[in-house]
Amino acid sequence: MEKEDLFSEGYAKAQDEQDPLRKFREYFVIPSKADLSRTKIGGRADENNKEESTYLCGNSLGLQPTLTKKYFEEYLSTWAQKGVFGHFKDVSDTHLAPWLNADADVQGDMAKIVGAKTEEVAVMNTLTANLHFLMCSFYKPTKDRHKILIEGRAFPSDHFAVESQLRFHGFDPKDSMIFLEPPSDTDSTLSTEYILSVIDKHASELALVLLPGIQYYTGQFFDMATITSHTRSKGIIAGWDLAHAAGNVPLQLHDWNVDFAAWCTYKYLNAGPGSIGGAFVHERHGQVKNVGSDERPSFEYRPRLQGWWGSQKSSRFAMANNYEPIPGAAGFQVSNTSVADSTAVRASLDVFKQTSMSDIRVKSLKITAYLEQLLDLLLKDQEATLGKKLFHIITPRNPDERGAQLSVMLEHGLLDHIMEILEHNGVVVDERRPDVVRVAPAPLYNSYQDVRNFIQVFKGACEDAVKKTKA
Ligand SMILES: Cc1ncc(COP(=O)(O)O)c(C=O)c1O
Repeated sequence: MEKEDLFSEGYAKAQDEQDPLRKFREYFVIPSKADLSRTKIGGRADENNKEESTYLCGNSLGLQPTLTKKYFEEYLSTWAQKGVFGHFKDVSDTHLAPWLNADADVQGDMAKIVGAKTEEVAVMNTLTANLHFLMCSFYKPTKDRHKILIEGRAFPSDHFAVESQLRFHGFDPKDSMIFLEPPSDTDSTLSTEYILSVIDKHASELALVLLPGIQYYTGQFFDMATITSHTRSKGIIAGWDLAHAAGNVPLQLHDWNVDFAAWCTYKYLNAGPGSIGGAFVHERHGQVKNVGSDERPSFEYRPRLQGWWGSQKSSRFAMANNYEPIPGAAGFQVSNTSVADSTAVRASLDVFKQTSMSDIRVKSLKITAYLEQLLDLLLKDQEATLGKKLFHIITPRNPDERGAQLSVMLEHGLLDHIMEILEHNGVVVDERRPDVVRVAPAPLYNSYQDVRNFIQVFKGACEDAVKKTKA
């Protein structure tokens, strides 16, 4: 394919026309350029300026499904009209479950997103909170085995969570945190071979390996199946942070034998800022056995932090202080569900339900490859016209080792100016200072034309930024 063809509007349009997921864009509210630059949310936007923005930032905050507003209105009306009855009375003209069942209502569809059995998933708390709750149950250090392996460049919240868990158990993070470090400053990816070799090196002292499914900065998709299997074969617990993986790539948490995982719903899962999180507990850890009798039950189960919402619904309101955990991940819940949040999750999952993670992945591979091709052409262009490349892609080039996101490392000093121009042109991507721009075409709502628009503006922004630094 000639470069002009790939760059042409016609090519991008033709890809959009052939896109089997194209109808999904209409299920989302795409901010207009005018909306992005307005300083008010009230009042009318400029009716003559409804041109859509180019939003490639679903790895940070996913866009709003149109269903969300409808479901929120139903939730608010139920609350207004039913008060406390909203907890248990069915309402026939809403798709939403009575609030007592709001958690169970989203469990099965969420489980499909991460490749789990329904009982293995709970929608609860938030991501870091879930990591803590799960580590409380799964991190069982002994004098000899107390170390936790994470990345040297882990997302700060994960780093802090691990540090504090170690301290709570009386260990010094300086001795008990093992870090995976990228091979060099220019290559930030971590090979599976290297990860396994570090696990091997520290195997006898490790209690837990906690890694991200997809690395937030580089966009690297780790070989979760191999790493989990290797970790577990050494008697170590395998936990995963799936913030950037859930809703982005197909996962098989059950089949991969993952011990536990946690994720958020505000990125590729489009449930809104700070929305409720997800948790996975493999079925082998969620069993509840009655070792007493029917008259005098006594339960054996994995120790965890307890609260009333993890206890069986049938006895929850008996107020008898007899804790009987719900089998599976739901038994790790502590508080009653935020119904506002689970309403947003319901809206999101009702969109996902109309397709599958494998179909989403097919488009994702294609649209991200298109972004990569255009970036590569731009690099050739820069070499020819400027005599140098102004950026390089730090995300793995192998499509199996990445999700939707490509991370672009800019020549130092260009970021501010480039981000300014992108924003001015209604192009939304995410920056990681000092030099990285993360660009993520979300297959449900992004089009090939979005990718092309980004490239057009980014090309001009790079040229402009260089002129400015020379001036
Ligand atoms: C990889 C990763 N871990 C943890 C977090 C923190 O999530 P939360 O604030 O929902 O606890 C984020 C947030 O973006 C993240 O990307």
